[in-house]
Amino acid sequence: MDRRGIVLAGGSGSRLFPMTAAVSKQLLPIYDKPMIYYSLSTLFLSDIREILIISTPRDLPLFRELLGDGSTFGVRLEYAVQDRPNGLAEAFLIGEQFLGGAPSALVLGDNVFYGEGFSDHLINAGSRKAGATIFSYPVQNPRDFGVVTFDQTGHATTIEEKPQKPRSSSAVVGLYFYDERAPQFARELRPSARGELEITDLNRCYLDLRDLFVEQLGRGFAWLDTGTCASMLDATNFVATLQRRQGLRIACLEEIAFRKGWITKAQLMVSADRCGNSEYGAYLRELPLFA
Ligand code: DAU
Repeated sequence: MDRRGIVLAGGSGSRLFPMTAAVSKQLLPIYDKPMIYYSLSTLFLSDIREILIISTPRDLPLFRELLGDGSTFGVRLEYAVQDRPNGLAEAFLIGEQFLGGAPSALVLGDNVFYGEGFSDHLINAGSRKAGATIFSYPVQNPRDFGVVTFDQTGHATTIEEKPQKPRSSSAVVGLYFYDERAPQFARELRPSARGELEITDLNRCYLDLRDLFVEQLGRGFAWLDTGTCASMLDATNFVATLQRRQGLRIACLEEIAFRKGWITKAQLMVSADRCGNSEYGAYLRELPLFA
């Protein structure tokens, strides 16, 4: 079965109040497009075309309005509600039926990735049939994240959620590839001290079976946080700087779909028209000239 994707785009967004008082954090812009575009682009680049978007009862209709059934991008999108932020691993209880026994990839709706060779990492992870793959990234503040250690073969040796005394500076990013066992393992989890079904505990199920593989994202790579106003501004400036220098857009979903042959030129032009006279629309209109 083809791997299916889940974007988890719920949560209370309390750290960004009042910006998130009326609207989901993952719908706020990072420069020229909604935040969730960046997460979706990660799944698209993994060649995943069946995707479940999970968000709050309040916000789900807005995601549906923004993205529809996915046909604009040549993919299939489904939607499901998470009533409360009960933890990242709950995505596999909510998404079990959607996955229907397929392997999966989960991406958090507020994670921005950028770097040459990213697609290769994704294809590597996607081609691993058994076990789970997580991605590590060196950070200055490992206490704020899941932290992993691994051996020379890339197998994880320890994984801890926000440890007081981190064993390494390798943070676990918000992107996880699992074989078909993830929902089964998720059902066995119990809430942590902070009352959540922890993704780190799900990863530990794989680690205990020596089935947790770590792909390393290195120093030439950007994994950007969008958790605070300052980090959102940093992410916006990062995207703006690269896009203005190269004239190429980061996480332009229609572009990825067009280059992969998932949509035709005519479909691309329909999207361009929908974007009216925005710079994003102009970019779509010019794409076939350079593709
Ligand atoms: O960003 C990577 C980190 O994400 C990992 O290193 C950690 O291991 C992992 O636990 C997680 O850390 P946080 O505790 O910082 O995640 P947070 O609670 O901030 O949730 C991440 C996003 O997921 C956030 O945008 C809100 C959304 N969310 C969160 C929860 C708990 C949901 O949609 N549903 C939820 O139940």
